[in-house]
Amino acid sequence: MVKKIFSGVQPTGNLHLGNYLGAIKNFVDLNNDSQNHCIFCVVDLHAITVSQDPKELKKNILETVATFIACGIDPKKSIIFNQSQVSAHSEAAWILSCVARMGWLNRMTQFKEKAGKDKEKASIGLYSYPILMAADILLYDTTHVPVGDDQKQHLELCRDIAQKFNNDFKVENFLVAPEPLIQREFSRIMSLKDGTKKMSKSELSDLSRINLTDEKEQIINKIKKAKTDIMPMPSSIEELSQRPEAKNLIGIYSSLCSLSVEKTISQFSGKNFSEFKNDLSQILVDKIIPISNEIKKLIKEKHYLDDILLKGSEKADKMASEKLKKIHKIMGF
Ligand code: TYM
Repeated sequence: MVKKIFSGVQPTGNLHLGNYLGAIKNFVDLNNDSQNHCIFCVVDLHAITVSQDPKELKKNILETVATFIACGIDPKKSIIFNQSQVSAHSEAAWILSCVARMGWLNRMTQFKEKAGKDKEKASIGLYSYPILMAADILLYDTTHVPVGDDQKQHLELCRDIAQKFNNDFKVENFLVAPEPLIQREFSRIMSLKDGTKKMSKSELSDLSRINLTDEKEQIINKIKKAKTDIMPMPSSIEELSQRPEAKNLIGIYSSLCSLSVEKTISQFSGKNFSEFKNDLSQILVDKIIPISNEIKKLIKEKHYLDDILLKGSEKADKMASEKLKKIHKIMGF
């Protein structure tokens, strides 16, 4: 079966190991399977739900494209574009916001986390952001959406919106309810400073994450300083439930080495954390430094990156406009 893949990443700078292991690594595997039609979107309209410096935003859009390519996405095989260049996304988001219910959005935990205590001051865009995400996905008849675990609830909302639209307008299966592609393990990489918090670009301390543009010394230093507990390395998977930092570091190691958590545990059981951390740093350096070097090389090739976005947005625009035209007809416009 041909899979139609769509996913997005916000161009907010500091793409990190969580983005890579939770999502982008998966994009690369999907891109490499010739059966799949893949679209990877730099979601700049999502980025402006919190304030952005326009110059920085422009730089970050190109850096996100450079990161996709440096990680192994081939722009000849997959469509890469930025959301703002395909106006159907904004328009479909409006139409779908008239289908989605307030009650559904009120349940979104990510809004509660991002808006924090002062919800009154959050932008309307931050609140309605999952509807724009649904528009992104539904415009392309997407069948599968690779994301990290934090986007699961937004995908459920997308499915609800598709179903309600199809029911309301009596157009069975017109909007395709997509399947999430969330890895069973390693779909939520946690902060290096607190194993109960997600690794995130908005976390103040840079020591909490490995950025995909970090240098070797930074990676080694961050792993050295990563929080652990006073016990030696765990000897069973059960122990991990009480030891969030150990669980996270073992998960990162296992994911990078394509090993099961059980295998990693038996490899390091009873050893000191320092020994494990040396090996973890080494594998991170081996995997991340080539990506980091490639990003730094590619961001200098502005014309090349601009051209990828231009060609990608032309292709995406054609597909999205066709779907939008059909939506107009259904709506009675
Ligand atoms: P964003 O930009 O926050 O994150 C991009 C991708 O990285 C994953 N991710 C993580 N995975 C594991 N551990 C972590 N600590 C971690 N942090 C981030 C995210 O799950 C995501 O897959 N709303 C989305 C972007 C979006 C989108 C879409 C995704 C917009 N439209 C349509 C899929 C389909 C977001 O803000 O991702």
